[in-house]
Amino acid sequence: MTSLRPDSDALLAELRRVQDPELRQDVVTLGMIRSATCDERGSVHIHLLLTTPGCPLKDSFRTQVADTVGRLPGVEHVELEFGAMDQAQREALRGQLQGDRRHRSPGVALPEGCRIIAVTSGKGGVGKSTVTANLAVALRDRGQRVGIMDADVYGYSIPTMLGVHHRPVTLDGMIVPPVAHGISVMSIGFFLDQDAAVMWRGPMLHRALEQFLGDVHWGDLDVLVVDMPPGTGDVAISLGQLLPRAEALVVTTPQHAAQTVARRAALGAMQLDQVVLGVVETMTDPEGGPQVFGTGGGQVLADDLQVPLLGTIPLDAAIREGGDTGLPVTLGTGDSSARFAALAEAVEARRPVFATPPPAPMDRIKKPLSLL
Ligand SMILES: Nc1ncnc2c1ncn2[C@@H]1O[C@H](COP(=O)(O)OP(=O)(O)O)[C@@H](O)[C@H]1O
Ligand SMILES: [Mg+2]
Repeated sequence: MTSLRPDSDALLAELRRVQDPELRQDVVTLGMIRSATCDERGSVHIHLLLTTPGCPLKDSFRTQVADTVGRLPGVEHVELEFGAMDQAQREALRGQLQGDRRHRSPGVALPEGCRIIAVTSGKGGVGKSTVTANLAVALRDRGQRVGIMDADVYGYSIPTMLGVHHRPVTLDGMIVPPVAHGISVMSIGFFLDQDAAVMWRGPMLHRALEQFLGDVHWGDLDVLVVDMPPGTGDVAISLGQLLPRAEALVVTTPQHAAQTVARRAALGAMQLDQVVLGVVETMTDPEGGPQVFGTGGGQVLADDLQVPLLGTIPLDAAIREGGDTGLPVTLGTGDSSARFAALAEAVEARRPVFATPPPAPMDRIKKPLSLL
């Protein structure tokens, strides 16, 4: 019977199916497997090195190892032992990960083909973070590899909306985004307390954002959804420079006042060399409802900016509850979830054409570029 037991090579081949959910690569490639053996009785022992001793991913590794190695013929029992990488191993891993990524200089390190969708609005409280979180989930449902970057320095809410409560793992200064609902999540809120945020202004804030964006290991993403700070202040300008070739998705409520400020945000985005992808109207009163905010503002703004209205999201208590509990409404079924799914489909279908070569100098004011 002993010939049926898997040898180390067979175990390693199987362990290539076990992924680090945050680094988005398999544990063999990442150099995390110190040893993998199976004795004559079918007892497997795997020694897996974590990036940090307190790594919050142990449960994920346990489940994945049980689902892969644990199901191999001849395996009766799997023992998974955790250790931690030493300094040299962490440095080697960091070097390996950095070798993989191509810089879209300046600023954020993303694969060349990765889209950046900047969710923007003129003011706070209109549902920008809600759109960010739910659009990300809906894009993930469509098979995309998605990240969320919460850049709202003064009013970050993405950690709560996605239910991420632990600090990110860092590898020698490289920040690894935690994963929630299959989405890599990074928030400036993971690193700030409110006092620090108040101190950051102008050039200092710009440098901090630049460092923050450059140090995050996003890995292979198809799309990064950015929750922008409201308005056209320092942070928005810095981000515009650090996120070249971003596509602005402008969020408005149906009210006239909201459209006016949203229009200002859209014009700001154009000046920052971003393409305005389209408009989303949110908090729309359901038909026959009390008409708190009225209807139609999104279409008016879209016509004004000569971009499409890409979605209409109803005013729905389930949307707010999802935001408060860290379980975006789009994880479930129902009308609002379907609306976000339709928004994601429209966003996916609309691909902007950027002028080449990117990125353009920042000192020129640009007109919106043509869209397919
Ligand atoms: N369509 C909606 N229906 C009901 N509540 C919503 C809707 N969109 C957002 N909210 C709620 O309104 C509040 C503000 O939304 P939020 O996304 O945080 O706005 P912003 O990021 O623009 O400040 C949150 O409590 C959120 O849950
Ligand atoms: Mg917000």
